[in-house]
Amino acid sequence: MKKIFFLSSLLFASFLFVNSCANNQEPKQEAMKKDSAASCSNSTIMDPNTPKPMALMMRSMAANADSIKAKILRGEKLDSLQFPFLRFYLVEPTDKNVLEPSFFEHAKVFQKAYYEVFNHPTEQKKYYNLYIGKCVACHQNYCSGPLKRINKMPINE
Ligand code: HEC
Repeated sequence: MKKIFFLSSLLFASFLFVNSCANNQEPKQEAMKKDSAASCSNSTIMDPNTPKPMALMMRSMAANADSIKAKILRGEKLDSLQFPFLRFYLVEPTDKNVLEPSFFEHAKVFQKAYYEVFNHPTEQKKYYNLYIGKCVACHQNYCSGPLKRINKMPINE
């Protein structure tokens, strides 16, 4: 009986491990199924109470994207002052291995797409969706856990 308990906790532990996204090159099905509120790295799972600054900024970015979407759907004008760009790529991530050239390349493309949303007041849906596409592009490479949530963010016409 004890052995079964040990085996099933081992299974659970490896499930958590699979769900983590540190260095996750090929997004795993299991990881996609996981709720996105959960973070994407081993250390965050082990210590969920002390998220790193980048993880915290990502939460704000996701909340901002939800607010931007709601405003667009209500037909309200977006004010860039209300949604300042968060320089997440300058702060400490949970997994420092992400800080490689292609990560900063994704960040640059994403930042550009962010400003485009505010630069196109008459085509906000289109540019909002392009901007969310850049969240997806980076997450496919660096942190697949939150993709389930991000994939619900585009505005469907
Ligand atoms: C350039 C790459 C990149 C872009 C662009 C990006 N992310 Fe992230 N995201 C990351 C990385 C890396 C982490 C892990 C951060 C950490 O744990 O320190 C993360 C973590 C997250 C998390 C989990 C935070 C937590 O609770 O631990 C969410 C949610 C998230 N991102 C949503 C978004 C949304 C929404 C966008 C677009 C508006 C976005 N991300 C754009 C790389 C990116």
